[in-house]
Amino acid sequence: MHSSYHAWRPLLLLLIATASQLSLSEKITSLPGQPQVSFEQHSGYIEVGDNVSSKNRGLFYYFVEAEMDPASKPLVLWLNGGPGCSSLGVGAFSENGPFRPSGQNLVRNEYSWNKEANMLYLETPAGVGFSYSMDTSYYDNVDDKMTAKDNLVFLQRWLEKFPQYKGHDLYIAGESYAGHYIPQLAQLMVEYNQKQKIFNLKGLALGNPVLEFATDFNSRAEYFWSHGLISDSTYKLFTSVCNYSRYVGEYYSDSLSPICSRVMSQVTRETSRFVDKYDVTLDVCISSVLSQSLVISPKQVGERIDVCVEDETINYLNRKDVQNALHAELNGVAKWGVCSSVLNYDFLNLRNPTITIVGSLIKSGIRVLVYSGDQDSVIPLTGSRTLVHNLANKIGLKTSVPYRVWFEGKQVGGWTQVYGDMLSFATIRGASHEAPFSQPERSLVLFASFLAGKPLPQTFQ
Ligand SMILES: *[C@@H]1O[C@H](CO)[C@@H](O)[C@H](O)[C@H]1NC(C)=O
Ligand SMILES: *[C@@H]1O[C@H](CO)[C@@H](O)[C@H](O)[C@H]1NC(C)=O
Repeated sequence: MHSSYHAWRPLLLLLIATASQLSLSEKITSLPGQPQVSFEQHSGYIEVGDNVSSKNRGLFYYFVEAEMDPASKPLVLWLNGGPGCSSLGVGAFSENGPFRPSGQNLVRNEYSWNKEANMLYLETPAGVGFSYSMDTSYYDNVDDKMTAKDNLVFLQRWLEKFPQYKGHDLYIAGESYAGHYIPQLAQLMVEYNQKQKIFNLKGLALGNPVLEFATDFNSRAEYFWSHGLISDSTYKLFTSVCNYSRYVGEYYSDSLSPICSRVMSQVTRETSRFVDKYDVTLDVCISSVLSQSLVISPKQVGERIDVCVEDETINYLNRKDVQNALHAELNGVAKWGVCSSVLNYDFLNLRNPTITIVGSLIKSGIRVLVYSGDQDSVIPLTGSRTLVHNLANKIGLKTSVPYRVWFEGKQVGGWTQVYGDMLSFATIRGASHEAPFSQPERSLVLFASFLAGKPLPQTFQ
């Protein structure tokens, strides 16, 4: 490891520094090429290993205070999925953070979520982005349990470092495989709170989330078919001979059957790799297609790459001056990458349903929003909508807002349905798997309504 900078200062300093001085030590003065702003940014590492004063396993965070009046705004932890993709590069710099890289500079994102909240972006688990484990055997078989535990320790220690945020309403938001990370972390927080209440957890927002593997993955066939990406006959094969959940299960347990292999190659041939599966209407980001075709062999499933890779973000985060400004360092990898190249995640964890955890969280008083970018074929809206509807039935929540459109300005932002006052579903019209990337304005309206605990705007404005 390089010795340039680290979150944990010498013991002497720890003894004389107050917590707020410590948090100042990770304040970002200014990011290279950044327009002037009035809000504070902080970034650095939180040790999540057993020994707090060691540098064994550090998770990297980027924290952006709310643009106005941070003291009165909630704290929101944002997580991207993968598993193994970066919340810094995808979430903060491509989706809902305050800036987006453009050439040598950063430009303001007018619809940044720090207009509504204090946003905390976490690169997790260790091995993702700037997060690391000094003991690289940690990467060999990382699973949901290990990730949730580290995320809990992270939040606990982060709040020690930023005690002014301890009483704030806390929300967790994220997308894709974070449909596993978020409920699992929230469950540990609720358990922790029973011993000592330190997390003021109010709600979860899950975007195009993996919540129940078979329902989520098998809704892909109908999505492809109804959007004209596959033929009638291929649809038939993809639903009756080998469905997608079977294919993925076989693939990750190294037991791919010839029949599934044949069905999948027919599906792949018809859908074409020149259509972005994360947004079937968006023109494909050509460079990402080419890089994905290098990284992923044709047989691999697409979920390992969580984003239409933004070359500008990769370039920006790999600049030495940017890394210095972020207090970030590369440990055990030559380059910062969108998705981890060292992590060996237990992909069969995909099969563990988290929708049941969501149900118990709602019962313990945590509000949940499931939202879907409606152009995503990877985790299509239809699967998520079915899962939410069935969950509402199971836990006895009645519809309080029947399925209807919601508005953003003078346009339909999507559709929504609310169950009781705890569970809601919404689509974002025209949005991809990374909804705030492709529909930033609509996504911000959704986010603001979610935090306020209000139904989405009902009237044309
Ligand atoms: C914790 O880590 C510090 C710094 O590496 C080390 O000096 C100390 O001995 C460790 N403590 C234990 C209990 O291992
Ligand atoms: C899809 O595959 C699963 C195995 O993952 C199987 O249990 C299920 O019956 C299949 N569903 C359909 C509709 O073929």
